[in-house]
Amino acid sequence: MHHPVFLAAGLALTWGLSAPLFAAEQLDSSQSASLVEQGQYIAKAADCLACHVGPDGTPYAGGKPTATPMGDIIAPNISSSKKYGIGDYSVKDLTRVLRDGKTPSGRHLYPAMPYPAYRGMTDEDIKSLHAYLKTTAAVEQKPSAKTDLKFPFSMRWLMIGWNAKNLDNYQAPQGLDDQAARGQYLVDHLGHCGTCHTPRNSMMGSDYDQYLGGAQLGNWFAPNITSDQKSGIGAWSEQQLADYFKTGQMGYAAQAAGPMAEAVHYSLQYLNEEDRLAIAAYLKSVPAIADDAQQQPVLDTRINETLLHREPKVTQVTRYEERELAQQGLKQEDISDPDSANGLYAQYCASCHGDEGYGQTTSFYASLVGNTTVRSANPRNLVAVILKGVEFRGATPKPLMPGFEDKLNHQQIATLANYVRTEFGAYSNSEISTDDVAYIASGKQKVSALIRYAPLLAWLGIILVAVIIIAGVWYWRRRRPVRVNPTVSQTNLDQPPHNRSDL
Ligand code: HEC
Ligand code: HEC
Ligand code: HEC
Repeated sequence: MHHPVFLAAGLALTWGLSAPLFAAEQLDSSQSASLVEQGQYIAKAADCLACHVGPDGTPYAGGKPTATPMGDIIAPNISSSKKYGIGDYSVKDLTRVLRDGKTPSGRHLYPAMPYPAYRGMTDEDIKSLHAYLKTTAAVEQKPSAKTDLKFPFSMRWLMIGWNAKNLDNYQAPQGLDDQAARGQYLVDHLGHCGTCHTPRNSMMGSDYDQYLGGAQLGNWFAPNITSDQKSGIGAWSEQQLADYFKTGQMGYAAQAAGPMAEAVHYSLQYLNEEDRLAIAAYLKSVPAIADDAQQQPVLDTRINETLLHREPKVTQVTRYEERELAQQGLKQEDISDPDSANGLYAQYCASCHGDEGYGQTTSFYASLVGNTTVRSANPRNLVAVILKGVEFRGATPKPLMPGFEDKLNHQQIATLANYVRTEFGAYSNSEISTDDVAYIASGKQKVSALIRYAPLLAWLGIILVAVIIIAGVWYWRRRRPVRVNPTVSQTNLDQPPHNRSDL
């Protein structure tokens, strides 16, 4: 029976039938591979990992708190686990989370998950993001931390009102060219830059009148990044901005620290150069907002230029401990007065930033002269840097700056910050007080009366409703004519004595 001719014909037939199928399948998988790759890029551009990373660095495990004046909000596990993550999500489910802040079970999310920004994401980007999120390693456990907000913020349904008031206030700018339009999409929707850089209104929504005008963020301050020449990024070139997004550093004038270091680490360094330049082009078009307190330009481009051509200079190393000083051939007496501003700087800062504040720029020890954080009229980031250090983990290994919150007291930090500003920041006078440092260290934030008194208002509301109900019942009982009905007299006995007076 198995005649070679039949066999050959059979093979040819099977091949003929299956070849197109096979080709289609191949096309399909290469298509889905590119969809996943596209989705991975979207996940980076949207910075999902910055918040959803696990405490030990496990991707998408969740557990990281976002601090808000109402309490800490914990990012959940969004790995592909079907039980603990979002493995069961359809594209529609993800779309609803990203655009409306609502989970498949109908739970309202807090805007700590930046859905007000993601709301503008295209269908195409959400679809590829969904394809990518399906491929992440499943993490089979819940984060151990739990969101715990104070009453009344613990009532998620309140977000219905918040959404109605805040979700559709955003108006996309008109008349942008293609490059700036791409930049606007990246800034406003994927990169959600305004979540940090735009101040909040009384309901903690974005105050679009101050769009990208700078806002407090815990210990840090996300600076003004509008096109203003003095207070914003107007003096930066587009290439300088793109470099900052790629390396967390711009010439010798700016280093990304704190939350911005995270944005560069998890997101911006992975964008392609075209997209980084698009963001830069868009930022340069954002209407300027001037901060009157900022008398000198935050960025002095001339200083940057001078520094670029400066020879590296290794400076005398001075440290606090005798042992360490001895190693450098120095004695404690060499530091004139260890408690003076000068003395504090020599002990704690000069080893890396140099006596003259120029740092060792060829080896990434930042120059304090010309640094935007030092020149800014808002002292918050300077104090935050001294407290917390600079913990940037970018693509190129760089030296880090240690935080000094356990080594120096608030008084010493205030002294140092004032010294750094007047010596290297071109300030003729600086008056950061010990109280200022304590306030910055606390991370506390001024909030509107609405948020501050919400618990009180909520309780007053509850008491008011209770009083109305009690008064209503009392009134209704008084008005009701009391009739004696022999068949229900048994029930009448259950009533309060004053209603049984006729018995
Ligand atoms: C700024 C921090 C932050 C970023 C960035 C962020 N998230 Fe979230 N996300 C959160 C927080 C916080 C919650 C929980 C909010 C709550 O409990 O109301 C959350 C909730 C979620 C949920 C709901 C899960 C569930 O079923 O409960 C999903 C899905 C999600 N995020 C996906 C994403 C994706 C995808 C991205 C990137 C496009 C992203 N998140 C970016 C902070 C963030
Ligand atoms: C999680 C909060 C956060 C997000 C998101 C964020 N930033 Fe920032 N940004 C900051 C903080 C805080 C600083 C100050 C860092 C410092 O002083 O080192 C900063 C600094 C900057 C600076 C330098 C300003 C200067 O004067 O030195 C630029 C430019 C900038 N951000 C642009 C952006 C853009 C564009 C995006 C969106 C793609 C973005 N940021 C997203 C918090 C954030
Ligand atoms: C062990 C070395 C070291 C010491 C000591 C040190 N720094 Fe730094 N500092 C650095 C490095 C490195 C950077 C730049 C980090 C980067 O490029 O990511 C930096 C950055 C800075 C910045 C710029 C941050 C920004 O957002 O642009 C300031 C301001 C600063 N240091 C101030 C100080 C002061 C004040 C002291 C003394 C209390 C001090 N540093 C001590 C290493 C040090």
